[in-house]
Amino acid sequence: MKHGRTSLFIPGPTNVPDALRLAMDLPMEDQRAPDFPAFTLGLFEDLKKVFKTDSGQIFIFPGSGTGGWEAAITNTLSPGDKVLAARFGQFSHLWIDLCQRHGLEVEVVEVPWGEGVPAETFAERLAADKGQEFKAVLVCQNETATGVTSDVAAVRKALDASRHPALLMVDGVSSIASIDFRMEEWGVDLVVSGSQKGFMLPTGLAIVGVSQKALAARENAKCPRCFFDFDDMIRTNKDGFFPYTPATGLLRGLRASVDMLLSEGLGNVFARHHRIAEGVRRAVAAWGLELCAKEPKWYSDTVSAICVPEGFDGNEVARVAYGRYNLSLGLGLSEVAGKVFRIGHLGSLNELMVLSAISGSEMAMCDLGIAIRPGSGVGAAQEYYRQTARPVDLGNSVAKAV
Ligand SMILES: Cc1ncc(COP(=O)(O)O)c(C=O)c1O
Repeated sequence: MKHGRTSLFIPGPTNVPDALRLAMDLPMEDQRAPDFPAFTLGLFEDLKKVFKTDSGQIFIFPGSGTGGWEAAITNTLSPGDKVLAARFGQFSHLWIDLCQRHGLEVEVVEVPWGEGVPAETFAERLAADKGQEFKAVLVCQNETATGVTSDVAAVRKALDASRHPALLMVDGVSSIASIDFRMEEWGVDLVVSGSQKGFMLPTGLAIVGVSQKALAARENAKCPRCFFDFDDMIRTNKDGFFPYTPATGLLRGLRASVDMLLSEGLGNVFARHHRIAEGVRRAVAAWGLELCAKEPKWYSDTVSAICVPEGFDGNEVARVAYGRYNLSLGLGLSEVAGKVFRIGHLGSLNELMVLSAISGSEMAMCDLGIAIRPGSGVGAAQEYYRQTARPVDLGNSVAKAV
């Protein structure tokens, strides 16, 4: 029998804070009630603040991130259209695969896993595309399989440098609401997110931001679509309703999540993720191990993929951590299966929670015979968290209590 909670350190779904769980613990409600729009219209508006767009529109589909990818593609493109994408991890790969299954012609730039979107190569390919055949450029902002964050603004610059009209599409599934993202400023046309990562909710919503340019592209888009059709959403959302039964409980949770994010302040949310992530990176360095992300410029503040030494299996680390210490770690996926294990550090987390994941990882690695000094990673992360802790005036109240 297991006691206590299983520590959840996969990179999504993430921990759901009690306040959000309670916000969803409601009787079912009427999605056509006259006061429902007062709730939904405000939610659409406030989500724009999270995506940082004024002119764009946000759609909320029942679904997961994969549904969001499909919505982005099918509403704006036609079979045979050319798109430019880089493959450098399981999720950038899966989005390419989805495009190909929809009949798109994907020019794939193969990139070593551990690096991110090669903005310079994209700039060259776009400049060489004199006929402007590329209809879209895909960027996976945070590749969850390898813990790599890419520079979306650099891809916008590459498009602008050759005055290329292709749509800029971003997978923000493991970055939105955790890592800086600026839809308006970066000229992003479509961005896909899911409820189960930075929004700290259960899986079940695909949240998609769409620019006016991308909305206009649907006039000529011939990919078949029904469930994910923006037209049906536009027609009903304008009055605060949905074309089919919305996931009302999750929408209530999303309201509470957006309130939480905006009241903390997005800048603070990003800084908190960075600090938590940096503690994990200090631990990895103290273990003498390396991240899958090859250079600091690629380091992700939401997930660290940690390479295990030759002769060891990263998935075994996760298996031992789960079996012995009630700790869920992320497995290595596809090309990096066995080579890494992952610590997800996004959503509602604090220092001591993350120290437990570092500690459990350390124990599992020691159990498997990996040459790690027990406590070394925990100690390095503790030191960093202590040095960077917010000053708190404990002053007299403590003295008096004693
Ligand atoms: C970066 C990224 N994109 C897309 C997806 C797919 O999302 P979902 O599993 O919610 O369909 C994931 C899932 O982890 C992801 O991490």
